[in-house]
Amino acid sequence: MKKLTKLSLVILTLISGFYSCKPNKNMQDTSLDQALEQKVDSVLSLMNLQEKIGQTVQYAAGWDLTGPASTTSAKSKVDKMKKGLVGSVLNVTSVKEVREAQKLVMENSRLKIPMIFAYDVIHGLKTMFPIPLGESASWDLELIEKSASIAAKESAASGLNWTFAPMVDVSRDARWGRIMEGGGEDPYLNSVIGVARIHGFQGDDLADKNTIAACAKHFAGYGFGEAGREYNTVTVGEFELHNMILPPFKAAAKAGVATFMNSFNDIDGIPATGHKVLQRDVLKGDWNWKGVVVSDWGSIGEMKAHGFAKDTKHAAEIALNAGSDMDMESYAYEAHLEELLEEKKISLVYLDDAVRRILRLKFQLGLFDDPYKYCDEEKERNDIYTKEHLAIAREAAKKSIVLVKNENAILPVSKNIKSIAVIGPFADNKDAPLGNWRAKATYNSAVSLLEGVKAKVGENTKVYYEKGVELTVPTVKPGENQFLYPLKINTEDSSGILKAVEAALKVEIVFLAIGEDAYQSGEGRSQTKIGFAGLQNELLEAVYKVNKNIVLVLSNGRPMDISRASELLPGILVTWQLGSESGNGIADVLFGDYNPSGKLPVSFPRNVGQEPLYYNQKNTGRPSNDIHVTYSGYTDSEKTPLYPFGFGLSYTNFSYDNLKVDTETMSSEEKITLSVDVKNTGTVAGEEVVQLYIRDLVASIVRPVKELKGFQKLLIAAGETKTVSFIIDKEVLQFYTAKRKWEVETGEFMLFVGGNSATKMKQKITVE
Ligand code: BGC
Repeated sequence: MKKLTKLSLVILTLISGFYSCKPNKNMQDTSLDQALEQKVDSVLSLMNLQEKIGQTVQYAAGWDLTGPASTTSAKSKVDKMKKGLVGSVLNVTSVKEVREAQKLVMENSRLKIPMIFAYDVIHGLKTMFPIPLGESASWDLELIEKSASIAAKESAASGLNWTFAPMVDVSRDARWGRIMEGGGEDPYLNSVIGVARIHGFQGDDLADKNTIAACAKHFAGYGFGEAGREYNTVTVGEFELHNMILPPFKAAAKAGVATFMNSFNDIDGIPATGHKVLQRDVLKGDWNWKGVVVSDWGSIGEMKAHGFAKDTKHAAEIALNAGSDMDMESYAYEAHLEELLEEKKISLVYLDDAVRRILRLKFQLGLFDDPYKYCDEEKERNDIYTKEHLAIAREAAKKSIVLVKNENAILPVSKNIKSIAVIGPFADNKDAPLGNWRAKATYNSAVSLLEGVKAKVGENTKVYYEKGVELTVPTVKPGENQFLYPLKINTEDSSGILKAVEAALKVEIVFLAIGEDAYQSGEGRSQTKIGFAGLQNELLEAVYKVNKNIVLVLSNGRPMDISRASELLPGILVTWQLGSESGNGIADVLFGDYNPSGKLPVSFPRNVGQEPLYYNQKNTGRPSNDIHVTYSGYTDSEKTPLYPFGFGLSYTNFSYDNLKVDTETMSSEEKITLSVDVKNTGTVAGEEVVQLYIRDLVASIVRPVKELKGFQKLLIAAGETKTVSFIIDKEVLQFYTAKRKWEVETGEFMLFVGGNSATKMKQKITVE
């Protein structure tokens, strides 16, 4: 009787909007909104066991699969939804479909608890921004937040409430395909970029119609897979885990990210999905974070293949006990949690905690207030792929480009130049710039380089185009989802090279658009080779023979081996996959309408054998750079990168001078102000990313030779000098020490300042 009264109260209050509430801005906040908690508890108290378990179930729609195909039929999924036994659905991506799915629950189930709709909106929904690694090269946090907010707006207008982004995995291995999805090799850069993306997706209010829940993934270690091999085992020690891998996740938790996703890999033998220390002790314990942990696709079931669970039931037991709240596509929780409870292998306390977290998020998204609040056909018609969004996409594209070589100022090119040849498989490619993880982007919808160039020059400039070589041999029809198909590289047909040479012969400058296709990086796209695949090297050499005035416009989703190009060609632009406005953004840079300001978020190697390659390495006991001796390099290669982390040129030059500190000693509770004068010594205005690195010279565990701890991106007029200051305090100097806590150790620190990680400008300080 008591239950019935409560049930009618729920139904009544659902209608009256009693449940509506503002979200908690900070999921780490210990004083959770009491009113919200009461509502969560009141719903929980009405739920029977099956309904509770149902909330932990996440199903994928039967299309756009990003993992092994589901075994449960669509019909049984629908039946489960009708009974209120599904908490969330992924890959349902339009208002019409979301509404239909939500109706199944709202019109049939006992408690009418709305579902959450999730999708991988990684770098835009339909308006595509640069791939995350590329956008990270902008080091422009405001811009990154803005692009995420547009992605959120377009997603929310499509009925979605949750994106599986940002990926904040520190990734140092160019062979790993998913390096394209994160912020590169540095934990600090990944932290601040991750937080900017979270703010962009979530805004200040999750219940706002234009915001969606974000997801920090993949917790943890996924970017450290051995040999860059996808899903591979991770062997890192406790200190490396805390100092290198976890910081971006901690920052995300602190910033109030609504959800976390765990990862496919094992860490030192424990699959992350079943990692109790990581999820219960660190994330939900030490960090006191109150959001939802979703498993990765099928990762609960995959603990069987790891050899960590004997069957799916065992996997469910391990995962729930370890703190995975929601089961994405393993069908393990729905099948086994009830039985596991009866057998006392899991406790109701953990199940209730998982359900509470899921319900809390639904309240925060405003779904209890109006389960269809994201279902607005008018918004879907008007808020997606707008002119305003495309303008920001162009801004993001041009700011993400990194100029790594510009001999004899080959760039920028005058718009009155007489003749240009745009050559290569990416020269008129309207699809590759959309990148991997392209959500609902329309096939072939990006502005190609050729289109961008043609739109820039006047009638007097003759623009030739030749593809030269096909990079790939098509395996699927144009526009078909290539996600699950390996690319077939063309290694035979070189018939177009001659025409490319003829074009190169006629012109003043060649823009050579070669590199990697969008589907050479991304999930499941690890490679042992990171140079120019297929016949692109032949194309490069042939064109170079007849015209030395070449600018390489590199298409890439990872750091590539561009050593040969760097040896030969006077100009190199790293242009990643830049999204919908790619060609326009590149043309803005090529012709000087925008002075490039991007800096590499990953080291570019000299060869694949150097991987994993990262600047924040340790020194070893024999740190010399010499080759052919028994020092810690290689006998056949320099150990330094071709282009270091943080590097990028401008059409102007910057000089650094007058580095000083207000005092050279401090206690761990005090602070020092460091300042430096940065002068634009050239003739045009430009933006410089002024970077601060530290080195803890002697510590209880070996510290990296340099660690990024701050940066400022500034516009400096020609001839102008700006003084840049950084505060050096506990935040900057602390690390996870041998005492297993974050603290500052006394002793000497070297501070470095400059325009890239190879900077030698330094100042010593002492912490007493
Ligand atoms: C990926 C996740 C992604 C999920 C859902 C998995 O294969 O690892 O990052 O969010 O699929 O599409």
